[in-house]
This record gives sequence, structure tokens and C-alpha cells, in this order.
Amino acid sequence: GKYRVISTKPMPGTRWINLLIEQDCRLEICTQKKTILSVEDIISLIGDKCDGVIGQLTEDWGETLFSALSRAGGKAFSNMAVGYNNVDVNAANKYGVAVGNTPGVLTETTAELAASLSLAAARRIVEADEFMRAGLYDGWLPHLFVGNLLKGQTVGVIGAGRIGSAYARMMVEGFKMNLIYYDLYQSTRLEKFVTGMYQDLLVKSFPNFNQILIYYKIAAYGQFLKANGEQPVTWKRASSMDEVLREADVISLHPVLDKTTYHLVNKERLAMMKKEAILVNCSRGPVVDEVALVEHLKANPMFRVGLDVFEDEPYMKPGLGEMKNAIVVPHIASASKWTREGMATLAALNVLGKIKGYPVWADPNNVEPFLNESSRPPA
Ligand code: GLV
Ligand code: GLV
Repeated sequence: GKYRVISTKPMPGTRWINLLIEQDCRLEICTQKKTILSVEDIISLIGDKCDGVIGQLTEDWGETLFSALSRAGGKAFSNMAVGYNNVDVNAANKYGVAVGNTPGVLTETTAELAASLSLAAARRIVEADEFMRAGLYDGWLPHLFVGNLLKGQTVGVIGAGRIGSAYARMMVEGFKMNLIYYDLYQSTRLEKFVTGMYQDLLVKSFPNFNQILIYYKIAAYGQFLKANGEQPVTWKRASSMDEVLREADVISLHPVLDKTTYHLVNKERLAMMKKEAILVNCSRGPVVDEVALVEHLKANPMFRVGLDVFEDEPYMKPGLGEMKNAIVVPHIASASKWTREGMATLAALNVLGKIKGYPVWADPNNVEPFLNESSRPPA
């Protein structure tokens, strides 16, 4: 192979490996036992010559690593993740390194975990499982593990991008929840998902999907549900995040992590939520003030939370692990076989495309695989 490409971790599947090897790459996969590689570990992997790196969200891709990669002749880096708060894109720009991520392939899988946590919290699945295994079940009782009925309740989505929109669709379509969402931007994606459940033919007969059509479709869907003896689902875009927190019964967080979303859910905002609300976080840990959350869980035993991510990953803030009203899983939202193989393939294509000089238009959902430059193939 002509090009030296490094993957800082073994990744699922073989397609990504074959792709690289077939295209003149010498692939080196780091098999160090340690879970999180330090900047120094990665510098030594990069060495004197390295054309591209596939890295992980646990690694700190800043000034130091991009300058090392650039000195080794590297042109491309891809995070094997959609989130890239671990990557300093400005530093990458400074050293002329293209940066990729893996959007699209993990949307549905991640939304399904958020839905799983919502249901598990509503029906107290983990507590009930522990009770059963502890041999405490000695007969059916009217009060045993009574939880919340989702149907007819309101689901709140904060951050209505790809994942938030897919989650909204699942909860609205699957469980007939009403929807309130907040995002800085009106989300045509979400609105299309929510309303696209009915009369898709209408969309096809119009070249541009427009607002009037969206509202028409909602009305049509309402009619459809009424005709079938169901309560119509209602939905709206909130004018503030606080409106979502006050009104929703289940709230799922899907923003990107940056300076503006750090501790987005803090003590004051937790206090705005209903006493029996459910909060789900499959985005990034620091979006929630975890110390404040532990206090809130202690003070409000009926409040429940489902967390995939933590502020000081891999650690939990003191007390969180003991709370019965918290469900905690180790950052596995994108962990389906199909998705993880897809992420690996997309990450490999990101790096390969850049190295070979024809950045690959790789994403099935029409998403730019590169964050800091156009990745369309030359015309
Ligand atoms: C996982 O957290 C990702 O950002 O892909
Ligand atoms: C519960 O098991 C019931 O039959 O109501």
C-alpha cells in the first residue's frame, strides 16, 4: 500500500478494511488494550509518515494531534462518531487536515435507544428486573411497579436534527404521544417526519415541500385519526426550551455539545419540569448538570431519567449509580451491528476519499461527510 492509514481502534465489520486495502492503503489498526488513548499514544502511532487517521470520540483531537498529523504528511481525519465535540475543527483547518464524521448511519439506531430508555423509565423495567432477580417477587399486587402510560402524554424533543426528529417520529407514530419540540431552527425534517405519516402522495405532487403543505398534512392526519376513533396527535414548535420543559411528560435531549449547550439542563431548568417527568439523554453528558440532576433525583423520587452519556465519562457523579429512579447505560446509543459497521465504513470512506483526491460523496442521507470542506466529487 502506498498510503499509511491508522485506525486507533479495531472497528466492527470487514468492509471498511477491504475498502482501504483495495485502494492502495497500508492499514494499521491499534490493538493497545487500554480503552482511551492519550494524545501521546496517538502521536507515537502517527510517527513520521501517516496519510490519514480514523479516530474515536474518546480522543482529544486538538492542536497537538493535528500538527503532528500534518507534519507526518496527513491530509484526513475521521471521527468514528457523529458528534465531534472532541475535535477542534479550527485547528484541523489551520494544519490543512480535512475532518469527517459519521452522520446518517446512526440516526435510527440512536433514536431507538432514546425510545428504549423512555419506555424503560416509564415502565420501570430496570428496577422491576432487579426486584425479580433478587427473589423479591412473592405475588401480583395492584401497586407493584406502577409507571406511566405514554399514550396521550406529551413528548418533548430538544434539538430537532436527524436523531431528535427520528425519535419524535417513533414516539408520535408508535405511542401516539403529542409532541412539542424546541430547536433554534424550524425543523422541516422533524415536521416532515411527524406529518409525513399520512398522504405522502401529496408531497410527491409538489416539487417543493412547503409550509402550507405541512399544515394541510397535519389537518389530514388529524382527520384520519378521528375517522379511526383516535384522539388526534397534536404537535408544536415551542418558542423556548423552557416551554418544552414545563409542558412535556417525557423529554429527550438531542442537541450538539458546544459552549451554548453546556449545562443546558441545570438546577433551574430541572425545577421547571413536571415532578413525574422523564428525562432522556443520548446526546453528550455535559449537556446536563449531573450534580444538579443527582440532587433533583433525590428530592423527586417520581422523576425518572434514562442516561446514555455522562459528564465525566466513563465516570458517574457521586450518588447517581445508587438512584433507583435513574437508568444508566454506557454510551451505547449507536451500538447496533448495522450502524457500527456503517460508521466504520463511512469513516474509512471519509479518509480514503480525501487521500485519493476525490472526496467521496458517501452519506446515504445526503449529508456532507466532511465538516470543513466540500466533499462533492469533481464534476
Ligand atoms: C456517538 O456518541 C456519536 O457521536 O456518534
Ligand atoms: C394483570 O395481570 C391482569 O390480568 O390484569
